[in-house]
Amino acid sequence: MGFSDDVDAAAEQIRAAEEITIISHIDADGISCEAILSQAISRQEIKVKSVFVRQLEPLTMPQVPSDSSLKVFMDLGAGQQNLFEEHCLTEREVLIIDHHVSQQVKRQYTQVNCLPYGIDRMSAAGVAYLVAKRMDSANTDLAKLAIIGNVGDMMAREKCGLVGMVRTTIVEDGIAHGNVEVRKRDLNCYGTATRPLHLSLAYNDDPFVKGISNNPEGARQFLKRLGIRQQTEKGRWYVWEEISLEEKRTIISALAEQLIANGEKTDRLFAESYAFPDEQPRTPLRNAQEYATLLNACGRWSKPQVGGAILRGDRGTAYRDAEHMLNNHRAIIRNLLQFILDTGVKELENLQWLHVGGRYPDTIVGIGAGMALSKLNNKKPILIMCEVPEDTGLTKVSMRTTERVVERGIDLQQALSDASAEYGGGGGGHKIAAGAYIPKIAEEEFVIRVNRILGEQFDKACPAHR
Ligand code: C5P
Ligand code: C5P
Repeated sequence: MGFSDDVDAAAEQIRAAEEITIISHIDADGISCEAILSQAISRQEIKVKSVFVRQLEPLTMPQVPSDSSLKVFMDLGAGQQNLFEEHCLTEREVLIIDHHVSQQVKRQYTQVNCLPYGIDRMSAAGVAYLVAKRMDSANTDLAKLAIIGNVGDMMAREKCGLVGMVRTTIVEDGIAHGNVEVRKRDLNCYGTATRPLHLSLAYNDDPFVKGISNNPEGARQFLKRLGIRQQTEKGRWYVWEEISLEEKRTIISALAEQLIANGEKTDRLFAESYAFPDEQPRTPLRNAQEYATLLNACGRWSKPQVGGAILRGDRGTAYRDAEHMLNNHRAIIRNLLQFILDTGVKELENLQWLHVGGRYPDTIVGIGAGMALSKLNNKKPILIMCEVPEDTGLTKVSMRTTERVVERGIDLQQALSDASAEYGGGGGGHKIAAGAYIPKIAEEEFVIRVNRILGEQFDKACPAHR
């Protein structure tokens, strides 16, 4: 059996069901998954309803209905199959569509997961799309949604573009359908549809350009020196997507010169980007990165359905709600990032950590951890803890690291799932990004335990060079 057979089997199982419940994750990837599959299912005239959870854990399991429907778990489930057993879910009523590390259990729940086949740069929305396309080849309009999910889960970050089957199948389907446009050597920076040019350049620190990264005024002067128009006659700031190709070339060449002058590499200056010509210019819906942030804002602020409505085409109330959440989301994340940097992390031998208390929702600390890492010592994984408002006895843990540290043997998924299990909690995720829930009383010991596990991982991979 190969991945393609698993996709076939999942499509078959769905087509044979009378009624389906989708249980999906609240982030951009999970919201995209749900919108892809639930539309594909409705188009087959099968009854479907959806539930979103922030994570599958004992506290959220009661949200899974105990009825006769086929329960399709998306962007979660692979690592929580023990909970299915505990809740007496049978093999017949479960289908898992996921890209997380799987957990071995006695029951053989049906799963379509790219990871065991070595496909590690595909998100769950990618898997969901392949299943939807197998259900009906006319579903290629949904490739756009799969691209948003993949970009939202950072699948394009390391290689500066989507790769593998996501690129060759899903992106190509989107282009052929006509709602996706690929820009091959675009500037590798965020906010190209909504941020004033100089802010887009200043907020980018990958690659870090001296005098421009983290320096909005420096970026403005840089553009002025190049003779780039920055504002319309009425004073509105231009964004990257609306300036001419020639202006873009001028900026990119000047940035490259600056990097070279500082002895830095220029390869990460370019990235393939995914634009959506069917959306309104200068809105966060115009490219995959900003669209994904908008969905994350909806999900992390407990309104994933609003994100789902937008993916289905609602540009009225849902879109206005989402814009509001996006502003709030950005402000709180900026605040969280500043809090981490101002407070400072505590350093252990193999990790850096901080407890942010009850100041921020547990659904966004992972995002803050990722952003803070790029401004701190990125050779050491970062661990952020916070309170869980629904349960004062629980603590949420989020960890992030970099591809380079993963190459040196670090596996955050393994570290957090092993360490949290020892204290009666649960965790999972990826080598590069993982999370867990643990009992509050175990916090201090837990950090020390994770530090030790990371040390063992480093030693195992390369005993001589730590
Ligand atoms: O559920 P899960 O897969 O959704 O988590 C995705 C999160 O993990 C993203 O928010 C992203 O920050 C992080 N991640 C990452 N690099 C990867 C994969 C995931 O930073 N290669
Ligand atoms: O919540 P956070 O963004 O830190 O999650 C990072 C990754 O860890 C995600 O892929 C998420 O699905 C996973 N995770 C998990 N179990 C938890 C918490 C997070 O598998 N209890």
